[in-house]
Amino acid sequence: MKVAVVEGDGIGREVIPVAHRVLATVRPDIDFFPVEVGYGKWARTGCACDADDIAALKSADAILFGAITTPPDPGYNSILLQIRKELDLYANVRPVKGEGFDILVVRENTEGLYSGIEWREEDRSCTVRVITVKGSRRIGRYAAGRVRGHGGHLTIGNKANVLKSDVLFREICIEEAIAAGVHWDTAFIDALTLDVLMHPARYDVIVTTNMFGDILSDAAGYLVGGLGLLPSANIGDRHALFEPVHGSAPDIAGTDRANPIAAVRSAAMLLDHAGDHENAVLIGTAIEDVLSLGIRTADMGGVAGTRAFGDALVRALIRRKNS
Ligand code: NAI
Ligand code: MG
Repeated sequence: MKVAVVEGDGIGREVIPVAHRVLATVRPDIDFFPVEVGYGKWARTGCACDADDIAALKSADAILFGAITTPPDPGYNSILLQIRKELDLYANVRPVKGEGFDILVVRENTEGLYSGIEWREEDRSCTVRVITVKGSRRIGRYAAGRVRGHGGHLTIGNKANVLKSDVLFREICIEEAIAAGVHWDTAFIDALTLDVLMHPARYDVIVTTNMFGDILSDAAGYLVGGLGLLPSANIGDRHALFEPVHGSAPDIAGTDRANPIAAVRSAAMLLDHAGDHENAVLIGTAIEDVLSLGIRTADMGGVAGTRAFGDALVRALIRRKNS
């Protein structure tokens, strides 16, 4: 398996090396190669991500991605959006897992309110919300495929009571749930967001459109503590990119204070996606081992640095692997 490693900017350069080490420890057979994209590269070369970079990313079986600083500079375009588009990474997947609940938020990543069809007029400004049959079908199918056994079900988050475009989204997702033979229900996104926070144990896989999923997945992050813990995946039919939910955190970059857990859990999702469930679970267990020793970074109330946490994690992995 070939894995492209993109550290990116800021704390991406601190947490990704830890995740990389963890992957190399459990899977010495993986062929890693670095790809440099981001603001740092833009500042140096005037280009944040060129055609060769995209080709390199496309040549990988999976991508481990840190974070990219998006400067306020008007001459700079978001390259993560560019990468998602070029690699057609249509499903944004975020697990939200804690005591008694295990939710997967599946957000459509390519259309809806973020289709980029916008204009400004004299006295108003418009954004077009595009929902297509193709986009709804592939996200609905992906989400239905992720419904787990043991009474798992698909919840289709929508606002079809107001938006005609969501009548279509809901209809197509229901078709896909029926085709996959999974239990399903639908819920209006506003009430759903509150209910997920109040009764997380009621949910399994939730599928929704782009902006609703953006908001729901951040809100659900409340259930599991800070940004330093949350992994995510961007999945397409041919490519997949795994990244922590957090950004480049310029306020703590370069100080060895970043929590690498989100990045390491993203690496575990990468293995899971590649079919290596055993090592994905092993990584999760090793993280718990380290935390139970009281080794934590500052955001979790501890004193360990990023590198020291990584060292402890690699020791825990080796212990688990040999036991
Ligand atoms: P951020 O996620 O970088 O940081 C928000 C707050 O959380 C900061 O106080 C930071 O110190 C803290 N934090 C984040 N990750 C942490 C970790 N692993 N351990 C401990 N503390 C952590 O979001 P912010 O500040 O809004 O954005 C900073 C830059 O990152 C911006 O340029 C933004 O555009 C970019 N960004 C990039 C993303 C990506 O590449 N996927 C996602 C979000 C933001
Ligand atoms: Mg967001």
